[in-house]
Amino acid sequence: MHVSSILSAVGLASLALAGPVQVAERQATKLRIMPLGDSITEITCWRALVWDQLAEAGLASQVQYVGSQNSNPQNCKPATANWDQHHEGHSGWLAIDIANSYLTNWLKSTPADIVMFMLGTNDVFRGRTTDDIIAAYTKMVNIMRAANPKTKIIVDLVIPLSLGSNSAIQALNARIPAWAKGLNSTDSPIVIADCYTGFSTSDLRDGVHPSLSGDKIIASRVGPLLLEYVKQSLGK
Ligand SMILES: *[C@@H]1O[C@H](CO)[C@@H](O)[C@H](O)[C@H]1NC(C)=O
Repeated sequence: MHVSSILSAVGLASLALAGPVQVAERQATKLRIMPLGDSITEITCWRALVWDQLAEAGLASQVQYVGSQNSNPQNCKPATANWDQHHEGHSGWLAIDIANSYLTNWLKSTPADIVMFMLGTNDVFRGRTTDDIIAAYTKMVNIMRAANPKTKIIVDLVIPLSLGSNSAIQALNARIPAWAKGLNSTDSPIVIADCYTGFSTSDLRDGVHPSLSGDKIIASRVGPLLLEYVKQSLGK
């Protein structure tokens, strides 16, 4: 074996690695934002519209969406063509199951600095009580903080339902402000994005999921809070 061929093999190996390693390092320094939820996060366009707000504010190159999913099922076409399609939205899933069985591992795989979530619609569909849903919210916040004590959290008031029990959605939303206040902290603040007020059932495309007008409402409520968190985190 010739020393020179070993050296050149090593040289080639490090050359071959340079690309991906640099990309990984660059991404590791970006602020990590997890869009967490059910189908209202997965198969909708508000994530894309919020990304446009990040881009318009000149922040897109310093942030990334994170999560085990990377998809654009609605074929959303925001102004920013290269928007980040990662997310943790899971159609049909309950807050209760995500809290009990999934969130810990998701946050291990893709840690987050900011988590924004809307959950509870499927729990309501399955007749879970408001108490049980709120207990799941608490568990999720505890999991987020165990993974990263400085997690900044945006919790959404859930959009209305015209299929099924909207009164149960209202009951959940009514509990969220006091719940959030009770768990709020300086290190890990919780703010509320009111995606309910002014959201009409005509902003739903199928009784459950937002149409484009509904996506715009969600983005208009979540986006400004997210921008505020991002600017605080980046020291701007
Ligand atoms: C949590 O505290 C922050 C200030 O640290 C405040 O802006 C925010 O409104 C509080 N959230 C709730 C739900 O009271």
